Amino acid sequence: MAEARPTLGMLHAEARARLAQAGIEDAALDARLLVEHFTKSSRTDALVRPELEIAAPSVSALDEALARRILGMPVHRIMGQREFYGLTLGLSDETLEPRPDTEILVDLVLGEARQEGGEDRPYRILDLGTGSGAIAIALLSALPSACAIGADISEDALATARRNADMNGVGGRFVGLRSDWFSEIEGRFDFIVSNPPYIREHDWKSLSREVRDFDPRKALVGGVDGLDAYRAIAQGCHGHLATGGRVAVEIGYDQKEAVTRVFKACAFRRATAAKDLAGHNRALIFHAEKTP
Ligand SMILES: C[S@@+](CC[C@H](N)C(=O)[O-])C[C@H]1O[C@@H](n2cnc3c(N)ncnc32)[C@H](O)[C@@H]1O
Repeated sequence: MAEARPTLGMLHAEARARLAQAGIEDAALDARLLVEHFTKSSRTDALVRPELEIAAPSVSALDEALARRILGMPVHRIMGQREFYGLTLGLSDETLEPRPDTEILVDLVLGEARQEGGEDRPYRILDLGTGSGAIAIALLSALPSACAIGADISEDALATARRNADMNGVGGRFVGLRSDWFSEIEGRFDFIVSNPPYIREHDWKSLSREVRDFDPRKALVGGVDGLDAYRAIAQGCHGHLATGGRVAVEIGYDQKEAVTRVFKACAFRRATAAKDLAGHNRALIFHAEKTP
């Protein structure tokens, strides 16, 4: 007689128990995300169809995923994707997992765009250090006439950003470009946006193991004082801003004044600052002192 297949309800219960037993901090949440992903089921399915039988390949994929989580791999790395600004973005070895904090930067830029001339204007956007394409793709999704260049030093990240742009229906308005900050950039932009690497060398060691082991170092570390990328961006922006153009950057929780000094030294003034949900300064907008 064929062995009965495990049900969705059983898999949820077992996954929760395995992760909790292994001391995983957010065991219930991680278990739910992994079960839903590997059984292609929804939250509603778990509630209304717990008796749903799950086929063997999904059960073994889930089993392997739980083993990885127990060994320390972050849940979104295991799934190979993460939600950002309501979009699903694929991840790869050299992409940072997009973080909710970065949504603050997207909100800030969209606020300026809406105030400025409305959502329908053909904004030209440059996303420096685009990674998975998170910021550029979120902006393109909300600004239907905009186009964006997503630049990155990593070919792997650019390939992933390309796939993500296509997957989210904005591929025709997104161009990926390998560039060391501004080295290959031509043209002028209404918005230059960036979430650059901003962790100080010294602080790398104190990041959680999940971040150190699975997020790429070059996506996170910004030199001895964490400000190297801001210097490169502030210096390069002037030749690439359209009249009235703005620069929007994400910052570390304690970098508001230091980053403002970097931009001030390059003749920019801070126009806006936004805090994250924890109350930390997280995103800044700069205007050029003189219009080009
Ligand atoms: C903090 S991650 C941000 C990724 C993505 N924009 C996000 O917000 O999730 C920084 C990105 O900068 C890229 N990067 C690092 N050094 C760079 C350089 N010299 N020129 C261009 N991009 C660089 C990294 O590869 C990485 O994708």
